[in-house]
Amino acid sequence: MTLTQSIAIIFLLFALYCGLDPFKHSTIANFPEFEAKKVDMPDWSEVPKDKDEHNLLQKSEIRFLNQVQGPESIVFDPLGRGPYTGVADGRILFWNGLSWVDFAYTSPNRSLCNPIANATPFSYVKTEHICGRPLGLRFDKKTGELYIADAYLGLLKVGPEGGLATSLATEAEGVPLRFTNDVDVDSEGNVYFTESSSIYQRRNFMQLVFSGDDSGKVLKYNPATKETTVLVRNVQFPNGISLSKDCSFFVFCEGSIGRLRKYWLKGEKDGTSEILAILPGAPDNVRVNEDGDFWVALHCRRSMFAYYTGLYPKIRKSILKLPIPTKNQYLFQIGGKLHGVIVKYSPEGKLLQILEDSEGKVVRAVSEVEEKDGQLWIGSVLMPFIAVYKL
Ligand SMILES: *[C@@H]1O[C@H](CO)[C@@H](O)[C@H](O)[C@H]1NC(C)=O
Repeated sequence: MTLTQSIAIIFLLFALYCGLDPFKHSTIANFPEFEAKKVDMPDWSEVPKDKDEHNLLQKSEIRFLNQVQGPESIVFDPLGRGPYTGVADGRILFWNGLSWVDFAYTSPNRSLCNPIANATPFSYVKTEHICGRPLGLRFDKKTGELYIADAYLGLLKVGPEGGLATSLATEAEGVPLRFTNDVDVDSEGNVYFTESSSIYQRRNFMQLVFSGDDSGKVLKYNPATKETTVLVRNVQFPNGISLSKDCSFFVFCEGSIGRLRKYWLKGEKDGTSEILAILPGAPDNVRVNEDGDFWVALHCRRSMFAYYTGLYPKIRKSILKLPIPTKNQYLFQIGGKLHGVIVKYSPEGKLLQILEDSEGKVVRAVSEVEEKDGQLWIGSVLMPFIAVYKL
């Protein structure tokens, strides 16, 4: 056999390996129903170019290292105590000023959930559906009750004393909630929340990102009728949600497209929505501050790869079929490295401030930003700590 023939055979075998993925290494090998949908990316010229040249987020203080695994939402109660946060093993913890204590939990089967030694934010993924995974947290300022969006157990609430939360909604219009993500409550007790997908669960959020699935919804729970209704449907990965300071509208994050949308609750436009801002990256949660501005947490900046594969789903699916580990596919998606970004927007959608850690040195990826007393409390499902940034 000549050298050329050997090379040809090796090349052929490699092509077959890539084409057939015999060892099921591809990201979508175990997802026979996987469909790649187009993501209508905004024109590149509309994407904000603003940068934090000084990487100010790197100045954040790392707090509670290894005491909180994967804290997503961070809240303070109406008396200003806390923070409270939901962690990877399904508990909602309360910082009493001296130590973290168990506050509440969402699963009635908590007794089946044992702590794992030397846990990381990923240690509990297999049991999330049993132990719960609280993502969005909000206090009702009047009653002191805590509303919880649990990725697997739906919408719940718990009294100021904590303990086992009460289930409020596990389905909407007869369809079970599959990936509840974030929640907010207005001054009358109406609850607004998001369901990121009715197909993919949280543990498969990467497949959800890659698919561009548009089964996500924004919902409302009415405390008087105990009914849940769908306000907005066919959203691609809806994520964070936050009422405006005066509760005349709420904003929610469209994860795949990277947008902030405004939904009117009062006035002439009541019940309609509009685009508020095109974001510089992929958003997670959004929180309003005392001034009525919105802090948006971004997992990463927009990558060219995510932009073009978003627009061309057939190409995206062909790349996903290759025997490349999911982790690497995800790295392509986020631009090759971890990069924490947070952005502040006015209620009119003007970008007011951007803070970054472009090397992911301290703040690797951000899930939520909560402003309190001149400090930003930064949580992430990927981090084993909370970062605190002084404004
Ligand atoms: C808790 O356990 C019961 C009995 O095994 C089961 O029917 C129920 O679905 C479980 N709930 C959760 C949230 O895992």
